[in-house]
Amino acid sequence: MTRIAHLSDPHFGTVPEGLADRLASCLKTLRPDLVVVSGDLTQRARVGQFREARDFLMKLPAQVIVFPGNHDAPLWNVPLRLVDPWRNWRLGLGLPLEGRVVLGDVAVVGINSANPRVWKDGLIRPAQIAAMEAAFGGAGRRILALHHPPEPPAGEKPSLAGAERLVEACERLGVEMVLSGHLHFTQVAPLTAARGILALQAGTCLSSRTRDDGNAFTLVDLTGGGANIAHYRLATDGAFRPDAVTEWVRGPDGWR
Ligand SMILES: [Fe+2]
Repeated sequence: MTRIAHLSDPHFGTVPEGLADRLASCLKTLRPDLVVVSGDLTQRARVGQFREARDFLMKLPAQVIVFPGNHDAPLWNVPLRLVDPWRNWRLGLGLPLEGRVVLGDVAVVGINSANPRVWKDGLIRPAQIAAMEAAFGGAGRRILALHHPPEPPAGEKPSLAGAERLVEACERLGVEMVLSGHLHFTQVAPLTAARGILALQAGTCLSSRTRDDGNAFTLVDLTGGGANIAHYRLATDGAFRPDAVTEWVRGPDGWR
């Protein structure tokens, strides 16, 4: 079994005192094979905030895939945002902007959907799709991760330019899950445009900028025919605990 912890939107700079350590301890007990943090590591892309994020990542008991969200490029320093948007990411975090981890027959590929030329929405370029295809290599099971959801959940606006071509490519490549963040609430559902792709929308794991979901993350156990997906929420006693587990099976008609 392969176990992936899907965290998102920690927004360092808005994290309550001590919460990052409690999340790291919880993950130590869960022993995932991989931790994916799907963007918005910081609130304002400051070097110090990236250093806080790096200190948290160093405490995690697994390899990590990270990539930026819209908050990880400077907002007010427009020249820096346009000329070298990932300078502070490099200085404070020192990690690549995209990543790939292979766990047995599972390949997880993380891509950068942030678009520093606009404030909030994302963009996937054709070259990224070609690179994604190469990154999956010959893997039997394929999981993509990015910050902006390729299909907005009900009631939300689309936020990703190039989403249609991304979903088409994922379908063609047999990608079975897409992990994203950005919206600060959890949802698990097949894409309406491609029911063979399960979309996992993670809440904010650490930020005080919560919606109904509070602070939460998702634990994915890949099984032979699908996945068991657990929702962990910050409970009133200050610990992260599972409050829902769903079992998903991928058949010829898609995920159920
Ligand atoms: Fe975001």
